[in-house]
Amino acid sequence: MKPILISGIQPTGRLHLGNYLGALKNFVELQNSGKYQCYFFIADYHSLTIDFSPKQKEKEILAVAQSYLAAGIDPKKSVIFVQSQAPESTELTWILSTITPPGELNRMTQFKDKAQNDPNNINMGLVTYPLLMAADILLYDAKFVPVGDDQLQHLELARTLARKFNNKFGKTFIEPQAILAKTARVMSLDNPQKKMSKTLPSGCLFLDDSEKEIMQKIKSAVTDSGSEIKYDEKNKPGLSNLLSIYSELSERPVMELEKKYYGKGYGEFKTDLAKVVVNSLKSFHILNHQPSILNAILNSGFKKAKKQVVAKMKEIKSKLGLPQVSG
Ligand code: AMP
Ligand code: TRP
Repeated sequence: MKPILISGIQPTGRLHLGNYLGALKNFVELQNSGKYQCYFFIADYHSLTIDFSPKQKEKEILAVAQSYLAAGIDPKKSVIFVQSQAPESTELTWILSTITPPGELNRMTQFKDKAQNDPNNINMGLVTYPLLMAADILLYDAKFVPVGDDQLQHLELARTLARKFNNKFGKTFIEPQAILAKTARVMSLDNPQKKMSKTLPSGCLFLDDSEKEIMQKIKSAVTDSGSEIKYDEKNKPGLSNLLSIYSELSERPVMELEKKYYGKGYGEFKTDLAKVVVNSLKSFHILNHQPSILNAILNSGFKKAKKQVVAKMKEIKSKLGLPQVSG
């Protein structure tokens, strides 16, 4: 049997180029390698930890499903489902919380960032977020987890918990490994010290931005002093970020791009980059599945996911000496 690979994206609004290069593009390449049995889900339970409108939630869930398909995730090859449809992960979250010291969760960088970004909405879900993520992974016996580098700390916790549970209750879980995308961190266009994120919309290239918006955002992207097109993260962080984006989308090495633009200015480089971005994101504009089709895909994925989690929960409960649900 092929090893299992799992990952999820939260339905929290529009997806951006960071999600594409740090996650989606990698998901598709891994799926198409044929080496894994892939599960890709929509992390709707995770998304409740930040302020949201219930009216928008369903649309946001379908928008992630739409982006999965537009990026090239194929429901014939991968299981696509919604996290809350298989709520066993929340049950396992509780179990994992009983072997987690609180200090392990309070020190998480993402928790600190999110708490700082919205001090009026610091909730327990933000604290226990990595436990639900660990449960998502361990419940599916996943060996591989493709994510951007902002999730590595959470993945390390999932590994620690798998080990701890196995030591205490007998071998039950696989210790998952991260698979990092080549561009594991896309930086904001107007502040290359920060990662691209929807909380900084002006520096964010959204996958459904119009051609005009893309052109305009790239033209006004922060570049550094000097005029040479040269990759130098320390002295030219803005330009280096643009070069990585260009390289990853065009599948041309950075060195080749440096040669191509030798002696040329930022203007020409940016115009070409904007064209590359527009071209790469075309499928996100063209594809438009009906909600009924998206729902049918999600339901069929859910049935496959459900089989896996019901069997795994049985195994976990028996390890803990808990009664099985009968009837
Ligand atoms: P989220 O929308 O927070 O659920 O993130 C979905 C995926 O996108 C995760 O695998 C993140 O690691 C990845 N991701 C988010 N922002 C960035 C970024 N700026 N650069 C690279 N990857 C990112
Ligand atoms: N926490 C991830 C993020 O913010 C989303 C996520 C939830 C996830 N559960 C997961 C990713 C399990 C990989 C595996 O991006």
